[in-house]
Amino acid sequence: MNNLVTKSCFIITLLSLLTSYLPPTRAKTLKPDEPCKRIVLYYHDILFNGTDLANATSAKITNDSALGSHFGMMVVFDDPMTEDNRLGSGPVARAQGFYFYDRKSTYNAWFAYTLVFNSTEYKGSLNIMGADPLPEKTRDLSVVGGTGDFFMARGICTFETDEVEGDYYFRLKMDIKLYECYQKGGG
Ligand SMILES: *[C@@H]1O[C@H](CO)[C@@H](O)[C@H](O)[C@H]1NC(C)=O
Ligand SMILES: *[C@@H]1O[C@H](CO)[C@@H](O)[C@H](O)[C@H]1NC(C)=O
Ligand SMILES: *[C@@H]1O[C@H](CO)[C@@H](O)[C@H](O)[C@H]1NC(C)=O
Ligand SMILES: *[C@@H]1O[C@H](CO)[C@@H](O)[C@H](O)[C@H]1NC(C)=O
Repeated sequence: MNNLVTKSCFIITLLSLLTSYLPPTRAKTLKPDEPCKRIVLYYHDILFNGTDLANATSAKITNDSALGSHFGMMVVFDDPMTEDNRLGSGPVARAQGFYFYDRKSTYNAWFAYTLVFNSTEYKGSLNIMGADPLPEKTRDLSVVGGTGDFFMARGICTFETDEVEGDYYFRLKMDIKLYECYQKGGG
């Protein structure tokens, strides 16, 4: 018994000595201004107003609660993404997903969507999610993955409000910076 205690004490001392000589684990660093790929696109959201069937690209799925700041309102969208900020300039991708409002005291949304690319330039998708605190000038959301030309991508998508027309139309600048870019290997 005593022998066992002595042995385990010895092992614990040895382990603590060893670990004290190991270098401290450091956070990995990445330069925010050096993405491996960067794409800037504009997102156009035209909320269905009850009559504009042909033009609307999104619809309210749940109504506001009485809590204020649209709290509880959820919108599902299939929105065009353009390279310059004119809606008429022609989509290069679609943003498909939803947002909802989740703060009483201020306008604060949460987004989860896929950017679907099917152009001559890109084929594939990027999946983006995160909080969108509207009072901030810029908001960073996570690019959590990708497929096709964006195989296994990760990065940051920075939102900036470009235009708001009442409740029916708004436009966001989405500055997508990828810090993980892969090419599918052979085999
Ligand atoms: C909805 O939008 C369409 C097209 O922009 C407009 O003609 C119509 O008057 C709007 N309807 C309502 C109820 O605001
Ligand atoms: C939606 O919510 C608003 C604010 O709470 C209310 O005024 C309106 O009547 C509701 N609309 C529907 C269709 O329930
Ligand atoms: C992608 O574009 C091609 C060529 O325009 C079309 O045939 C195909 O159906 C599209 N795929 C999707 C998923 O939209
Ligand atoms: C569609 O909606 C956009 C954004 O509100 C607006 O600029 C455009 O005039 C609308 N087009 C039609 C045909 O209603």
